Amino acid sequence: MKIGLLGFGVVGRGVYDIVADRDDIQVAKVLCLEDITLPDAEVTKNFQDILNDDTIDTVIEAMGGLHPAYEFVRAAMEAGKNIVTSNKALVATFYDDLIPLAESKGLKFRCTAAVGGGIGWLSEVERSRRIQKIHKVGGIMNGTCNYILDSMTRLGLDYGEALKQAQALGYAEANPSTDVEGIDTWHKVILSSNIAFGVSIDKAGVPAAGISRITAADVENFKAHGLVCKLISTGKLVDGKCSVYVQPTLIPQGDPEAAVPSNYNLITLIGQWSDRMSFYGQGAGRYPTAYNVVQDCQDILLGRGFYSPYGEKVTVCNDEKLCFYVRGGKDLPAAVAENWGSAVVTEPISVSAIHAWLKENPDAFIAAIA
Ligand SMILES: NC(=O)c1ccc[n+]([C@@H]2O[C@H](COP(=O)([O-])OP(=O)(O)OC[C@H]3O[C@@H](n4cnc5c(N)ncnc54)[C@H](OP(=O)(O)O)[C@@H]3O)[C@@H](O)[C@H]2O)c1
Repeated sequence: MKIGLLGFGVVGRGVYDIVADRDDIQVAKVLCLEDITLPDAEVTKNFQDILNDDTIDTVIEAMGGLHPAYEFVRAAMEAGKNIVTSNKALVATFYDDLIPLAESKGLKFRCTAAVGGGIGWLSEVERSRRIQKIHKVGGIMNGTCNYILDSMTRLGLDYGEALKQAQALGYAEANPSTDVEGIDTWHKVILSSNIAFGVSIDKAGVPAAGISRITAADVENFKAHGLVCKLISTGKLVDGKCSVYVQPTLIPQGDPEAAVPSNYNLITLIGQWSDRMSFYGQGAGRYPTAYNVVQDCQDILLGRGFYSPYGEKVTVCNDEKLCFYVRGGKDLPAAVAENWGSAVVTEPISVSAIHAWLKENPDAFIAAIA
């Protein structure tokens, strides 16, 4: 396999290092805008050098962002090259374009590192689908949020202190909004649901609530009730209806999700025969993530393409009713079941209704009670 590697940052450099001693995979050209030289690969600043190189059969996209990643990946596919990417935003956003294109051109397209980083989650979903129907996917998919929530719970830090620590350790970006507002998890659960259920979810109907409004007082409140707050994604297929959402969720102490420390992920599927299977590990980091990119290259060498056939477009239906912890906001759309100090716990209310209310009350904090 001869590779054109797009991007030489955290993931790209990791891929280069892992394949350095391999005979079956060779990084032939690297797209990098900095002035660097590499012992075994040509470095170029011009994507056309990779696109027009007929000896390159596979492009690894490790630049991140939507543009020009999308244009480069699409052009590479038009030129007949297989794709491996770690870019969840790219795959979730352009799913309806890129996956049918790969199918129609008979190309291999893999993105295991896009969800769970170092955890082989999507390839396990692929294996699972061979034997059983998957009823539910989801869990803790964002290490930045887990680090912040874990530090608040275990060390009693407030949100700002925990975020600063996460930034100092390289777990959170200078602008953390994609992670803390749940957008990163949103991309991941949409992509996981598409693959697990063999559909194409209408993204506009999938709500995401993040953790940026949580306070140290909320966390104390949860502890007093034996609960731990985690950012949880859910994708479900029940009676042919898909339900997909992301929200802070209060988990009983002692449940597996409640115990997930630091920046780790815990992603779970519930299948027809297997019942619950959970996958725990590093959701990010240079070598864990690059490891799965290289696993994808191996899968392509073994003839594996995308994880599931491209499926029909579906609109989500989030009518499941849950009780929610709510602090702040006006005109709550559900009756109050309990008062928890400065917050309340509602009677059951549909996920879609509480998220619609949150849009009108963006300063409020909500957490579902598991
Ligand atoms: N880091 C992780 O642990 C991890 C885990 C799972 C998935 N991912 C995903 O993997 C992708 C890459 O992440 P990363 O952490 O490796 O990012 P990164 O460290 O910022 O690396 C991206 C590299 O691509 C370069 N780049 C951007 N646009 C380019 C262009 N037009 N031409 C050439 N080079 C370009 C960047 O250069 P400049 O710095 O000069 O812009 C940078 O060196 C993202 O989609 C991310 O979501 C990352």
